[in-house]
Amino acid sequence: MIYCFSSTGNSLHTARRIAEALGTQVAPITPEPATCADDIVGLVFPAFFWGAPTVVEAFARTLNITNPQAYVFAIVVSGGSAPGAANSLRRWHKLAYCAELKHVNNYIPGYAVNNEPDVHANAQAQLAQIIADLNACKTQRAGFYTPLNRVIRRAMPGPASDAKFSISGCTGCGICASACPVSNITVDTQPQFAHRCEHCLACMHACPAAAINYGKSAGKARYLHPDVPLAQLIAFYRQ
Ligand SMILES: Cc1cc2nc3c(=O)[nH]c(=O)nc-3n(C[C@H](O)[C@H](O)[C@H](O)COP(=O)(O)O)c2cc1C
Ligand code: SF4
Ligand code: SF4
Repeated sequence: MIYCFSSTGNSLHTARRIAEALGTQVAPITPEPATCADDIVGLVFPAFFWGAPTVVEAFARTLNITNPQAYVFAIVVSGGSAPGAANSLRRWHKLAYCAELKHVNNYIPGYAVNNEPDVHANAQAQLAQIIADLNACKTQRAGFYTPLNRVIRRAMPGPASDAKFSISGCTGCGICASACPVSNITVDTQPQFAHRCEHCLACMHACPAAAINYGKSAGKARYLHPDVPLAQLIAFYRQ
């Protein structure tokens, strides 16, 4: 089984390709605990502040891998730089293989989206190498989760960061509520946030009016992986 969290589709696309190659399935990472008896167990997730999203950490902490011979791996899908971030899950699991796959950066409060052909081409090439490694049951450490990772990860906005989202131009369509992977949004005339935010930005990227903003995101292009339509992302968390 490949467990995946994804805001804009990079990790979901990666997880699906890996699952196809290894002959297994992809399941969403949610706040619910899971038990897995498979002989291959993967965790694929985006880099958040040189670490893993909070929901991924919580999931990994409680994930019960019952097969002691399981080949367990973690792939962090970054926006270009998250050294050692996949290793953050070594706190809870013996990982045979870790890797960082550098992809399009969706952190629009800080950066513009680099949704360019060479970034996708590089990501495809890295994915091919990772799949070859996993098919060969390779072991790989790919760096360390260091004190610098911990310092950067602590700068991650917390669950009440949604109180600082600004809303302008909302049509009340409700798409942001459907796109939120942790059901943190309800929409009456415009989104209301429940302050259990993962700061994943799925709502910002999914909003057709670009009405949700934070930091320096206003006016910047939004992003979804070209092979992962929004309807698939929404359905993934509701399977
Ligand atoms: C809260 C947040 C923090 C992020 N921190 C990092 C980071 O430390 N390093 C990095 O390279 N990319 C960072 N990114 C970018 C994403 O990890 C990257 O775009 C990833 O490919 C998105 O995957 P997804 O489409 O599966 O959500 C961050 C994105 C978000 C939303
Ligand atoms: S997706 Fe955008 S326009 Fe639709 S309800 Fe949410 S904020 Fe408003
Ligand atoms: S409210 Fe937006 S940023 Fe927060 S968890 Fe939901 S989709 Fe992610």
